[in-house]
Amino acid sequence: MDARLFRFLPTAIAVVAMVLAGASALAATPAELLAGYTAKAGAPAQPERGQAFFNKNFGREMGFSCASCHTTNPTKLGRDQVTEKSIKPLAPAANPARFTDAKKTDFHFDLNCKDVVGRVCTPAEKADILAWLLTQKP
Ligand code: HEC
Repeated sequence: MDARLFRFLPTAIAVVAMVLAGASALAATPAELLAGYTAKAGAPAQPERGQAFFNKNFGREMGFSCASCHTTNPTKLGRDQVTEKSIKPLAPAANPARFTDAKKTDFHFDLNCKDVVGRVCTPAEKADILAWLLTQKP
């Protein structure tokens, strides 16, 4: 083997290992995220409660509910009422990219809950919403 390649190899292996470790730490399935929220909530998720929460108008700015932007049918395209951009479906059955990145999911949960509800959502509320979204098939 070329001496230069030989010196480079351990570094390359270390970099690949780091990338793989990082990727597996971030990648998640919707079921894993749900299990995490449920464990924090300390009680089983209730999909019907999640649906009611999603459709509830909390009476804040512009009368927003989650459904204002995501629609009452999370297997369909939504529309951001502020930016007017279309939003891909939230239900994992309609959009496999959903709830596969814990950081992204929590970022949007916190942002949207603050806007709509006026505070971050509790683990129980997140569990209920995600459990309901998982029941929705296109
Ligand atoms: C003003 C419009 C708007 C409202 C209201 C809104 N959302 Fe969103 N939501 C977005 C946008 C925009 C994104 C990010 C774009 C994307 O991921 O397609 C997003 C993304 C998300 C995600 C990320 C999912 C993932 O892992 O990919 C979750 C969860 C979410 N919203 C939940 C909620 C909940 C719960 C509510 C109500 C408390 C809510 N949203 C209200 C616009 C909105």
